[in-house]
Amino acid sequence: MGTHLSRTVAQGLAVMNLIDGKQMEALSGKRIDVACPSDGKVFASIPASAVEDVDMAVQAARRAFDEGPWGRMPAVERGRCLTRLGLLIEQHGDELAALESRDTGKPIRQGRADVTATMRYYEFYGGAADKIHGDTIPFLDGYTALTLREPHGVVAGIIPWNYPLQILARVAGAALAMGNTLVVKPAEDASLSAVRIAELALEAGVPAGVFNVITGYGRDAGAALSAHPLVDYVTFTGSTATGTAIQQAAATNNRGVTMELGGKSPQIVFADADIEAALPVLVNAVIQNGGQTCSAGSRILIEQPVYERVASALADRFSKLVAGPHDADLDLGALINPMQKERVAGMVAAAEEAGVTLLARGTVASDAPSDGYYFAPALFGSVDPGQAIAQEEVFGPVLTVTPFGDEADAIRIANSTEYGLVAGVWTKDGARQHRVAKRVRAGQVFVNGYGAGGGIELPFGGFKKSGHGREKGFEALYDMSATKTVVFNHG
Ligand code: NAI
Ligand code: MG
Repeated sequence: MGTHLSRTVAQGLAVMNLIDGKQMEALSGKRIDVACPSDGKVFASIPASAVEDVDMAVQAARRAFDEGPWGRMPAVERGRCLTRLGLLIEQHGDELAALESRDTGKPIRQGRADVTATMRYYEFYGGAADKIHGDTIPFLDGYTALTLREPHGVVAGIIPWNYPLQILARVAGAALAMGNTLVVKPAEDASLSAVRIAELALEAGVPAGVFNVITGYGRDAGAALSAHPLVDYVTFTGSTATGTAIQQAAATNNRGVTMELGGKSPQIVFADADIEAALPVLVNAVIQNGGQTCSAGSRILIEQPVYERVASALADRFSKLVAGPHDADLDLGALINPMQKERVAGMVAAAEEAGVTLLARGTVASDAPSDGYYFAPALFGSVDPGQAIAQEEVFGPVLTVTPFGDEADAIRIANSTEYGLVAGVWTKDGARQHRVAKRVRAGQVFVNGYGAGGGIELPFGGFKKSGHGREKGFEALYDMSATKTVVFNHG
C-alpha cells in the first residue's frame, strides 16, 4: 500500500500522446517532468516525443485524411462533431480550468475564462462548417467556372504555453471545420489540456486519426513535425525566432504557413478620452495572464496635457497589484518557467541600468511559495520610444508609458516597433478614431476598449514581425483551406 501510494505520487499524472485514437508512450519511453509554476513542484509528466513518434502521428493523420470518413462527411456533420466537443468542454469546464491553471500558473478565473473562450471556438466553428462556400465566376461563353474550398490535408499545429486551450481551439476549430486532419504539438510547459481535448474530441465523434496530439520539446518533436514531408500546412503561435525556424523547415517542402508571432502593442490615450473608463482596461491589457499574451497592450502613449494624470493613476494601480499562486486567484500568477522569469527580470534590470524611470512596482504575496516563478509587475515612465524596453516584447507584467505631442507623433511612435499585432485608441473624437485606426499598423485596432485575447468572431493576426495569415472568425477558414477552380466546357 505504502509502496503503491508513493509510486503514484512520484509518477503523478502520467499523460500520454494520442495517436490514431490511442494513448501512446513515446517510443523511446522518455518523459518530461511537468512542474506547477506556482510552487515549482513536479505533479505530472508527458512523453518526450521524437522523430519516430511524430512520424507515426503524421502517418495516422495522413491516412485519416486520404482514406477516412472525415473529408467525405457532410460539412454539417463535421460541424456537429465540433459543436458536441464544445458542449463536452462546457461539461468538463471545472476540470479543464483547474488543469490549465495548475499547468500554467494562471489565476483560476483566467483558467475559467479560457475554458469559456475555448467552448465558444468549437461552437463558432461547429456552426460555420457548412456556411462557407465557393463562387461561380462569369467566364467565356460556353463555359461554367466555379470554385470549391478544399482542405489543405494534414495540418500541423505548434501551440505555445500561454493560452494552451484557447490557441489550440482556434487552430483545431478552423482546421477541422474545413475537413483537415491535425497533428498538434503543444508546448512542453503546457501540454496537459491538449491531450484532454483530443480525448474529448474522440468522445464527440471526431474519428480516430483526425485529431492527434504528440508532446515533447520544440527542438525534437516540433522541428520534426514542421519539416515532415506528409504535412500539408503548418500553423504556429509563439516567438518570432521560432516562427522563422518553423517557416524555414516548412519551406523545405514548400508548405503554406500561418504565423502568429509576438507583439509590442500600443494603446494611444488622447487628452479628450474618458480616462476613468480607460484606466482599468489599460492595466488589465498588460497584466492579464501575467503579461504573457501576444496581444498584451504593453506600451501606453499618452497625450502631453494628461500625461501626469494618467501616469500617476497607473502608478497607483500598479503599486497595488499582487502576484500569487493560481488557486489564490490574485491579480496575476507566476510566470511559466524559471527561464521566462529570468528573461523578464533581465529586461527590467537592463532598463533600470539604462536610466529608464521605474514609476511603480507591484508585489508578490508574502505567502506565495518561494519556489514559484513570481515576478512583481513593473511600470516605467517617461520612456523614450527608442529604448529597448519600449521596443522589445517582454512577455511579462511590464508596462511603459510615453508622452506624445500630437496625433502624427502618436502614430509615428505607435508604428515605430518591428511588430504590428494590436492597438488601442482612446478618444471621443470620431474623425480621429477613424484616422488613427487606419494609420496604425496592427491586425486589430480597438477604439475605446481593448480586447486582448477575446473575440472568437474577430479576425486576428499580424503585420510586420507579428506574423502573417489570419486566425479567428471566418477568415481562419480561408487560411485553413485552399481554393480549387473547376471549369466546365459545355460548348
Ligand atoms: P517558442 O516560440 O520557442 O515556443 C512555442 C512553441 O514552439 C512550443 O510548442 C515549442 O515547443 C515550439 N518550438 C520551439 N522551438 C521549435 C522548433 N525549432 N521547431 C518547432 N517548434 C518549436 O517560445 P518559448 O521559447 O517558450 O518562449 C520564448 C518567448 O517567446 C517568450 O518570452 C515570448 O516572448 C515569446 N512567446 C510568444 C507567444 C505568443 O503568443 N506570441 C507565446 C509563447 C512565447
Ligand atoms: Mg506547465
